[in-house]
Amino acid sequence: MASIRRTLSPYQDRSHQNGGNTSPFALNSPSHKHNSTTRFASPLSTFRFIGGDKHIPARKGYRTWRKSIYSCMLFFIIGFLLGLAPFGEVEDVRSRDFSFEVNRPPTLDVKEDIVIDKVELAVEKRENVKERFDYVARKQIIVVTPTYNRALQAFYLNRLGQVLRLVPPPVLWIVVEMNVASTETADILRGMGIMYRHLVCAKNLTNIKDRGVHQRNRALEHIEHHKLDGIVYFADDDNVYSLQLFEAMRDISRFGTWPVAMLAQSKNKATLEGPVCNGSQVIGWHTNEKSKRLRRFHVDMSGFAFNSTILWDPKRWKKPSSASIRQLDTVKEGFQETTFIEQLVEDESQMEATPLGCSKIMNWHLHLEAHDLGYPKGWLLQKNLDVVLSIE
Ligand code: UGA
Ligand code: MN
Repeated sequence: MASIRRTLSPYQDRSHQNGGNTSPFALNSPSHKHNSTTRFASPLSTFRFIGGDKHIPARKGYRTWRKSIYSCMLFFIIGFLLGLAPFGEVEDVRSRDFSFEVNRPPTLDVKEDIVIDKVELAVEKRENVKERFDYVARKQIIVVTPTYNRALQAFYLNRLGQVLRLVPPPVLWIVVEMNVASTETADILRGMGIMYRHLVCAKNLTNIKDRGVHQRNRALEHIEHHKLDGIVYFADDDNVYSLQLFEAMRDISRFGTWPVAMLAQSKNKATLEGPVCNGSQVIGWHTNEKSKRLRRFHVDMSGFAFNSTILWDPKRWKKPSSASIRQLDTVKEGFQETTFIEQLVEDESQMEATPLGCSKIMNWHLHLEAHDLGYPKGWLLQKNLDVVLSIE
């Protein structure tokens, strides 16, 4: 029976001239009836059938046909090689080893000197930025706010939170509640977009008067324990604060104070409470109510701020006593501020007028509270406000 020998490329023939089946791609085909073998002979995947040549009947023009096949294959290979080369780079094509592209994984042609250049450029840029903006780290402001659930709480916390959000960072808002962290407060804090800590003061108190005091003390404990570094400010939730106030606070070194505009408890007059200043010095006090005349320092709870390191590193400030600095629940109403400040400074010489000359009113202590009213009915249905409105 006839078997056919087809050699498609003289180049491939040379690589297998010993007739050995050395290619890892060689396939033997036992099913071939005529003892023929199908072989993928090279990475370029030419193939041939091998069998007994003597069985091929001589045909006219066989040689011419073979020649033209050879020529075709030769042109095909040359065309293929030229096709791989980019235009105008014929020399590169000639020097290329094509077996590399098939048998070995491609490797990156990395020019090390170029990579190093790029790294140096990046470093140079960073230094330039530093020089141009003359970066100075800002002091952290630690705002302490006692709060509790009542009708206007969301209004107050949102108003204060939105001011704090406008203060350039770092600002930490420590919000303290009594006994339990309420969902209402947590919700407001979560959506505010500022750094905060929601703390709970666990104390069984019957006297509502002192709650704020204990809640602030819980925050002081936290600051002391974690050695938080910054300027501490007691901001009751219901007061009104300007951005200027927080800017001015960043200039405080040890203890800063300023006058606060107040609406009297009777709501029939507005007064100032706080220092009278000359430049950076505190030289006197605005006093109002007769019952409070005996106070050493006439400062409102929202009229001073101090360096947190006094709480956990008193030696730095040459403070003799190392007892914890806390607000007192044992003192007469209206004396919490002065008895607390007496633990921070010895006298006015250790105080800083904020800003110079105490020339601005930066916050307002009002008494607009409706103590006994709770949140409106339906407040907690947060998922779908439309539904709440339609029920109402
Ligand atoms: C009065 C006095 O005028 C202040 O001198 C005193 O420091 C303050 O109370 C206080 O108790 O700490 P007032 O504005 O009348 O100030 O007090 P509130 O505004 O009713 O409360 C002060 C802060 O404590 C607020 O942030 C308020 O939310 C919070 N608070 C009050 C609670 O967290 N729980 C309460 O039960 C009451
Ligand atoms: Mn208040």
